[in-house]
Amino acid sequence: MTPGPVRDRRSTGWLKRLAAAYAAELVEPGMVVGLGSGSTAELVIRELAARVRAGMALTGVPTSRRSERLARRLGISLLAPEQAPAIDLAIDGADEVERETLNLLKGRGGALVREKLVASLARRLVIVVDVSKLVDRLGERMPVPVEVVPFAWTGPARELERLGGRPVLRVAAPGRPYRTDNGNLILDVDFGPLDQPEALAREIKLITGVVDHGLFLGLTDTVIVGEPAGVRVLRREQPSPPA
Ligand code: A5P
Repeated sequence: MTPGPVRDRRSTGWLKRLAAAYAAELVEPGMVVGLGSGSTAELVIRELAARVRAGMALTGVPTSRRSERLARRLGISLLAPEQAPAIDLAIDGADEVERETLNLLKGRGGALVREKLVASLARRLVIVVDVSKLVDRLGERMPVPVEVVPFAWTGPARELERLGGRPVLRVAAPGRPYRTDNGNLILDVDFGPLDQPEALAREIKLITGVVDHGLFLGLTDTVIVGEPAGVRVLRREQPSPPA
């Protein structure tokens, strides 16, 4: 066996496909479904399109222009979130999933604001990942993406430094900042592994010029994990009702 990056990518793709197929089976006829962004979410969109071709009715609410284009091309009927009466289920990928809490770090693909809006409007959020995305603490491997308006963006960047982070402006190409679907910029902020993500999330949201960040806390209901042994389903423990 020759381990190497190409081999790793192939095996991860297989695990993603396994989890995506399982997640698509959770969709029932007539549902309005939030369509996530990123390579795993695109596999889910392809699975859903196959179910549509087989005769199932469903409506998608895409979280990025890229997912919208793919879903439309594959024949899925679409609505904008403001047109949808309700979103029954949102299915999306993630960059990191904290094992214990199922809190997420998202936004490497730049769609975090729309993803979070659709996730928070949905009755249920299902996350689809391969096993490499599970972590003990958020921030272990990834910086926290923070979407900021372009005007005076260095101000929010300084505030993020004050919170202990190291912000880096995301670029699409050398000298050309990356722009989100909302026309904004992204600062990738390295805070290291996070001990108190809730407190940090609150502080980041208070910064003028910040639109939102990639910490998705308390939103996930279910995580579908593709592993070499098959699919593992993790469910968030709901707080017990008052006695
Ligand atoms: C998009 O903005 C992200 O939040 C994606 O959901 C995340 O980056 C996962 O992408 P992959 O499925 O491509 O790893």
